[in-house]
Amino acid sequence: MQCTRKLTEMIYWVGGSDRRSTMFENRFPITQGMAYNSYLITDEKTALMDTVDASISQLFMENVEHVLKGRDLDYLIVNHMEPDHCAGIEALLLRYPNMRIVGNSRTIQFLKQFYARHRLDERIFLVEDGQELSLGSHILRFALAPMVHWPEAMVVYEKSERLLFSADAFGAFGSLGGNLFDDELNIEKDWMDETRRYYANIVGKFGAQVKALLDKLSGFEIRMICPLHGPVWRTHVDLILHKYDLWSRYVPEEQAVMVAYGSMYGNTENAAVALASMLAEKGMRNIRIYDVSRTDPSYLIGEMFRCSHMILAAPTYTGELFPEMETLLLDIKSINLQNRTVALIQNGTWGPVAARKMKAILEGMKEITILEPELTLKSTLREDQTAELEKLRDLLLN
Ligand code: FEO
Repeated sequence: MQCTRKLTEMIYWVGGSDRRSTMFENRFPITQGMAYNSYLITDEKTALMDTVDASISQLFMENVEHVLKGRDLDYLIVNHMEPDHCAGIEALLLRYPNMRIVGNSRTIQFLKQFYARHRLDERIFLVEDGQELSLGSHILRFALAPMVHWPEAMVVYEKSERLLFSADAFGAFGSLGGNLFDDELNIEKDWMDETRRYYANIVGKFGAQVKALLDKLSGFEIRMICPLHGPVWRTHVDLILHKYDLWSRYVPEEQAVMVAYGSMYGNTENAAVALASMLAEKGMRNIRIYDVSRTDPSYLIGEMFRCSHMILAAPTYTGELFPEMETLLLDIKSINLQNRTVALIQNGTWGPVAARKMKAILEGMKEITILEPELTLKSTLREDQTAELEKLRDLLLN
């Protein structure tokens, strides 16, 4: 049975949530499921904003049919050609033979790559940056958003109601259950961490391109942001724009410390926790500690976009860096994290090299300050190393 929500008199949410899959992109854990949003405008002309993932395609088709109430579908706007938003294209092409697919030149290129078996040319409606399309009382203005986070990505600003259809931008991990709008949810408690984790891992690499999109949007008055994942922003529009401004410039949200440690038998963990306790004694609040062997890197990367400082602690493992720490660091490097301060703790019973290996990766990144000297453990933290720990603590507090 259909399940839709009304955004405005003529605009409907026709998406859904996948609560069965365990991974998004077959990479990122989605313990709370994943929402795939789609929006349908029913003006003199009808226009659908993107489709959904294959996991919810049956519900999606029922939703579209229900809102259309027997009307034809005139336009399918494709803001993003990644398959989590395109699984419905083929079914729509067959069910609505008059439907035109609206996209920019890169969209059309990717469309033909994914759907080479269809004759698409007569179904295509090509648009350029800044072009407008009238649906009747609603006017869509197309704004290209290249590399947020694919080359063809674009957003659509609806002028009469001041709605922004933002593709993946402003999205979040997590499923939606009835409540769709930010003011129907506890955003800070239940959604901000997953909004940040989504940004950091999916879009975070492309800060300059996100900043360019924000600059482009600054000329628009936005009443509602309608992303392809997560809640619709209508009460916290300024808040999410502010977060995106910080994240896009790699500015930490908080003066805060996150600790990520690898530890085979608990000795490296012990030193990391001892340092965290010393920071707490000096007034540092809200320190969060994570075991890299038990925590998916995507959560740690999300946290790194929040915090100004990091403590990375790892053992040496068969003459190399502890593999789970190496994976994390390579992930951080690949998403282009910048402007952070890092303290290092290494351990090695017979030949510690973990710090050197961590530095080699961190030094290849922009604006990462590594506090010197690192703390070196030979098997365990000794009592006479307190002064070394205090020095690292003081460097972190400066
Ligand atoms: Fe939600 Fe980039 O796809």
